[in-house]
Amino acid sequence: MFNMKTKWVRFFSSEEELLETLGKRNSLCLELNGKNLILLRNEDQFHLIKDKCPHQGLSMKEAKCEGNYVVCPFHQYRFSLETGRGHGLYLDHYPIEFREDGVFAGFEYFSIF
Ligand code: FES
Repeated sequence: MFNMKTKWVRFFSSEEELLETLGKRNSLCLELNGKNLILLRNEDQFHLIKDKCPHQGLSMKEAKCEGNYVVCPFHQYRFSLETGRGHGLYLDHYPIEFREDGVFAGFEYFSIF
């Protein structure tokens, strides 16, 4: 039987370190769990998305948040920050947890155990 599990990877030791690293920027490129990702700040919320637009595979480094959507800089496709869905496509996105021992990103995987 297959189960979905989540591997949590710590990428900052605290929320303060995240905020200090981000500074006044609203996005940050990260490499985590073998993936190129973009951390986005949207007002007081943070989102983690894959640095690859599902439309033509281009970088999302210059993507901007508008409401509950992230907008690709190339053809302005909009993807939900909640579901990753938009224009019949799906943008990979990852949950973030703020814990006492750091800031973690979740990566789902199949397990046979
Ligand atoms: S490459 Fe992102 S919308 Fe076209």
